Amino acid sequence: MLNSVRFRITLWYAAALAVTLSLFSWLVYNNLESSLNENTDQLLAYRAEGVADALEAYLETERIEVGRHSRAAAKQKAFYRIAPELVQLHADDPRQAAVDLRIMDASGKELIGSGNSELAPELPDRTLRDALKGNAAYDTVAMRMANGAQMLYRSYSTPASGSAGTAYIVQAYRPTYHTQFALRNLRYMMMALVPLIVFFTGAFGMFFARVALRPVADMARTIRQITAASLSMRLAPPRTRDEIRELADLFNAMLSRLEDSFLSERRFIQDASHELKTPLTILKGELEVALKKARSPGEYEEVLRSNLEETEKMSAIVGDLLTLARFDNREVRLDRKPLEPAALLADAAERLRGVAEKSGVAIELESAAQVPAVSGDRAQLSRLFLNLLDNAVKYSPAGSKVGVRIYSESGRAAVSIADSGPGISAADLPHIFKRFYRADSSRSSAGFGLGLPIARSIADVHGAEIRVDSGPRGSIFTVLFPPTA
Ligand SMILES: Nc1ncnc2c1ncn2[C@@H]1O[C@H](COP(=O)(O)OP(=O)(O)O)[C@@H](O)[C@H]1O
Ligand SMILES: [Mg+2]
Repeated sequence: MLNSVRFRITLWYAAALAVTLSLFSWLVYNNLESSLNENTDQLLAYRAEGVADALEAYLETERIEVGRHSRAAAKQKAFYRIAPELVQLHADDPRQAAVDLRIMDASGKELIGSGNSELAPELPDRTLRDALKGNAAYDTVAMRMANGAQMLYRSYSTPASGSAGTAYIVQAYRPTYHTQFALRNLRYMMMALVPLIVFFTGAFGMFFARVALRPVADMARTIRQITAASLSMRLAPPRTRDEIRELADLFNAMLSRLEDSFLSERRFIQDASHELKTPLTILKGELEVALKKARSPGEYEEVLRSNLEETEKMSAIVGDLLTLARFDNREVRLDRKPLEPAALLADAAERLRGVAEKSGVAIELESAAQVPAVSGDRAQLSRLFLNLLDNAVKYSPAGSKVGVRIYSESGRAAVSIADSGPGISAADLPHIFKRFYRADSSRSSAGFGLGLPIARSIADVHGAEIRVDSGPRGSIFTVLFPPTA
């Protein structure tokens, strides 16, 4: 299960999903955090600056109305008349989030405030110095509450300047728990949701992968039942048109090929046994008859002669089978040399002359002037031509000719052997190179149907090609050698 494709795909998929979702959550969270903070900062600045502007305007009028040199007490009175109003006005805007405001003097002491001054965040020294220099500043200050809890405040402090520089400092502040609460909620939700989503998607993925791979499981079940005895079984290809379908089709095609070669192997053994059984039966029968009673030396000799003939036949079959087996197992070592095709054919014709003369068939050799040499094993190629020529002579009627032509076809050496025999029927043509195959018409003649298979094996190892043209007026077997580099 842990090793299954299904599990691995799901695992990779879930891992990828977890990474992308986490990245996405992180981006969303950060974005929200910075935009919330920005909002707060803007709000604080807006409120504080509003009060500071009003205060500055007041300081301006005071100079005109109360007079530059009026007493401090008179100034104080005037300030306390307008300041609370200002602070209240800016602090409670029902349309906006609550913000507390306070006005401090130039030493940082609170004069007026909208909130509980105990709970107001203190003004850091640096911010105070900045304000005296005429600059506004943001601060995040942690305050310890009465119950021991810590509370974070965000504040904005800005100077309100009169004619003699910074006269007051206006501070707008607000606890940050609103945004922190919202962000914490989001964080918890993401931490719970991301694994949950990954888990459920993984589970669904696992399920769908199982559905998608079900044909594979079905195929595996069928394949398990296939043995040498049931090679005719086939996979039921899934109805889809996908890779699995392709695999099933390929597997079925492979089974067909295996079945074919298995069946032909079996048929071959059957044919070989059959072919050997006939001479053996004859041999056995003759020996039994000979042993029934005492015979004259002449009779014994005749029996022995006949036995020898059958033995030779069997020996020839076994020899051919051995040759084919060596070709099949690629055990044939070729002694490759450049050879003249004309010389090979002359040699083969010479060896068959006796047989040909006996059946009244003439072999005519005709060689073109320039034929490329072929690279090959002399003994093997001789055998190839001997087999073809032997058939041509064997299936030719008495008084006819077998024409052997040696020529070159687009730079390749070619040899054609033409007879005017009965030809090969279209039904037999695809089979004549099969082992032990003999057309019905040639059953009576000598041979076991191993000549052409051997010829083909020899041609194959030489990279040569054998073509057959056959009609009612004879056959032409052509051997085409590969071009010599
Ligand atoms: N020249 C030919 N003319 C007619 N039939 C042929 C010829 N050569 C081969 N055949 C057919 O092909 C079959 C296979 O040939 P081969 O393998 O040489 O076996 P064999 O010669 O022992 O019969 C022959 O039995 C015959 O039917
Ligand atoms: Mg033959």
